[in-house]
Amino acid sequence: MDLGRGLVLRNPILVASGTFGYGVEYGDVVEVDRLGAICCKGTTLKPRVGNVTPRVTETPGGMLNSIGLQNPGVDAVIEKYAGTWTTWKTPVIVNVAGESVADYVEVARRLDGVPGVAGIELNISCPNVGKGGLQFAIDADAAGSVTAAVRRATELPLLVKLSPNVADVRPIARAIEAAGADALTAINTLSGVAVAPSRAKPLLGNIYGGLSGPAIKPVALRVVYEVAQVVDIPIVAIGGVTELGDVLDFLAVGAVAVQVGTAIFADPTLPVRLVGELEAECRRRGTETYAELIGMALPRKPGAPSAKGVEYRP
Ligand SMILES: Cc1cc2nc3c(=O)[nH]c(=O)nc-3n(C[C@H](O)[C@H](O)[C@H](O)COP(=O)(O)O)c2cc1C
Repeated sequence: MDLGRGLVLRNPILVASGTFGYGVEYGDVVEVDRLGAICCKGTTLKPRVGNVTPRVTETPGGMLNSIGLQNPGVDAVIEKYAGTWTTWKTPVIVNVAGESVADYVEVARRLDGVPGVAGIELNISCPNVGKGGLQFAIDADAAGSVTAAVRRATELPLLVKLSPNVADVRPIARAIEAAGADALTAINTLSGVAVAPSRAKPLLGNIYGGLSGPAIKPVALRVVYEVAQVVDIPIVAIGGVTELGDVLDFLAVGAVAVQVGTAIFADPTLPVRLVGELEAECRRRGTETYAELIGMALPRKPGAPSAKGVEYRP
């Protein structure tokens, strides 16, 4: 599968940012070279200590996290990990976060040309501090501007990660495509809150957390289904994958690949197992590649999105 600019995956099972560290942490338990690609932890220009604790809590069918992008900063990430990444067959895509367009551009510039860095995934679910703290991901102009600026700064394959916390994701996806992204990834976590057992305050130190896990899969399916009908660039799906059926569902609504996130905490070997299970499924169906499974559940007539069911109205 070609995600653009030479980022070719040997299989469509990736690991999601923030759930597989920098890849090196799992070397003893996971055959990293069997993975389609690794999206590493969110990386920022300067080191970040992250949010105050508590940072995670379980929820029905998932978890809420507010890690707050704890990371050592881009220079340390390159110094510590890129050397190891060059020894792997599996491409490593560096997930990039920032507080301004200039931040994103500078991180991308420093990653450009570094051996071992195969691509960039922009986490645009971050507040644009100079613009009143509005997230880049919730506004088509802001999402397009940051994508265009990073596009100018690097020749690396550029993936941009959509947020589900918007009324209509389609104009945002189109703006990102028009700004030169090679692929979209969808979805980041859903904004949520949990209450402390005392009921006297919110549970998480940061108040807000990101909901992930099986609970968000229908939302992720809806986003991929909608976006697949309005863009031509590839879409990598993320959200609640725990078994082969989830992978097949995301392919059916138009994703070309999937990322496994929260489920890795319970079973780090799941992504590699899914690689084998998908290969077996293709053999069972008598299909040459999984490419034939992509988009099977999309409306048949291109350019004519299904009139009903596009949006849920209670
Ligand atoms: C603990 C944790 C940390 C995360 N950190 C990041 C991050 O740094 N950058 C990012 O783009 N997404 C991050 N995510 C979001 C995941 O990559 C993924 O989009 C989301 O969890 C949905 O997939 P899942 O349901 O399979 O976990 C994080 C998720 C979790 C659970």
